[in-house]
Amino acid sequence: MGKQRVSRRQFLNYTITGVGGFMAASMLMPMVRFAIDPVLTASASGDFTATDLKESDLTSEPQRVSFTVPQKDAWYDSEETRIAWVFKDEDGEIVALSPVCKHLGCVVDWNTDKNNPNHFFCNCHNGLYSKNGKNVPNTPPLGPLDVYRVEIGSDGIIKLGAIEANKGV
Ligand code: FES
Repeated sequence: MGKQRVSRRQFLNYTITGVGGFMAASMLMPMVRFAIDPVLTASASGDFTATDLKESDLTSEPQRVSFTVPQKDAWYDSEETRIAWVFKDEDGEIVALSPVCKHLGCVVDWNTDKNNPNHFFCNCHNGLYSKNGKNVPNTPPLGPLDVYRVEIGSDGIIKLGAIEANKGV
């Protein structure tokens, strides 16, 4: 077997390519990791946040509850205060409605329109919703109020999760 000789030029080429590749990878890896970090972070959509309400506090009358959820916007961490209208429906199911009007995003209130008692009312453009969140026809909103996912903690505390479409109307 003949020895395969490596010329000085080939040796330098291999060495420079290897060291250069290693240095490029060392610089690029942190940059790529930094760029895609939000994608790699687990989504918080399945998380529930405890409120001040207990299941035993609930009645058929909607109660306004505010709670704070952690927000992650790329690399910026903050907190957002959210509001829900929580009550038990006629079947005893807990309903937590989002107060965000489906017309142009104002905040609805419960039972504040004297002409339409026991309705959610949006005073921006007189939007009206029945108690289950269904938009009243011939008022500006074109869809029902969204709902929060609801979970009850072992201590009876109401926990609210992601907002989803209101399928109960
Ligand atoms: S934003 Fe609520 S009715 Fe227009």
